[in-house]
Amino acid sequence: MTNAHPITIRPAQADDALCLGVLSTQVFLHTYTLHGIRPALAREALANHSVARYEALLADPDKTILVAECAGHMVALSLVDNAARLETRPDLAAAKLEHLYVQEPFTGRGIGRDLLRQAEKGAAARGAEMLWLTAWVGNARALSFYPRCGYDDLGETMFTFEGESHPNRLFGKRVRHVAPA
Ligand SMILES: CC(C)(COP(=O)(O)OP(=O)(O)OC[C@H]1O[C@@H](n2cnc3c(N)ncnc32)[C@H](O)[C@@H]1OP(=O)(O)O)[C@@H](O)C(=O)NCCC(=O)NCCS
Repeated sequence: MTNAHPITIRPAQADDALCLGVLSTQVFLHTYTLHGIRPALAREALANHSVARYEALLADPDKTILVAECAGHMVALSLVDNAARLETRPDLAAAKLEHLYVQEPFTGRGIGRDLLRQAEKGAAARGAEMLWLTAWVGNARALSFYPRCGYDDLGETMFTFEGESHPNRLFGKRVRHVAPA
């Protein structure tokens, strides 16, 4: 059923916060709570993936959120922080891909790649030379996906939340050459 409908990608609007928060929570929990829920993960989900958090992000001029829709339903989102420089390259105009979340039934059909491409174009249009991100070493799919989309592995980094540190890989891609849409 899902394959019968085309996917459209558009900038998120203020009234998308409800669906953004729920989709983000769903994909976050599905991806990162492989062993169940513990308080640190529960707090992270509520703090960084809530509807209120997306209301704030939508009002922040440094953030760009895109959504992918299928038959009137939100199925994926991307969130870029246009002001997040890379610590190791402060000289470089860089933007950070904070989230790229495709709802599980819609994975593996090119939506992540298309959404990422649009996010790259948006970051380049805002002046970024590089789009960077970190991916958890336990997320095998993401570790395969980003190199397939042209990202270089720039080494190890740590992702810290709730006083816990988790090894991540740092990925980056030059986006200056990306032609405008
Ligand atoms: C990771 C994610 C964004 C990829 O998006 P997707 O829509 O599933 O991927 P696509 O269908 O666009 O695939 C793009 C490329 O990645 C490759 N790829 C996708 N899933 C893969 C997998 N499980 N294993 C290996 N390669 C994979 C595809 O083969 C394709 O490459 P190709 O066209 O050269 O063959 C998506 O699966 C997702 O949102 N996962 C849950 C949340 C998450 O982990 N986000 C990233 C956090 S850093």
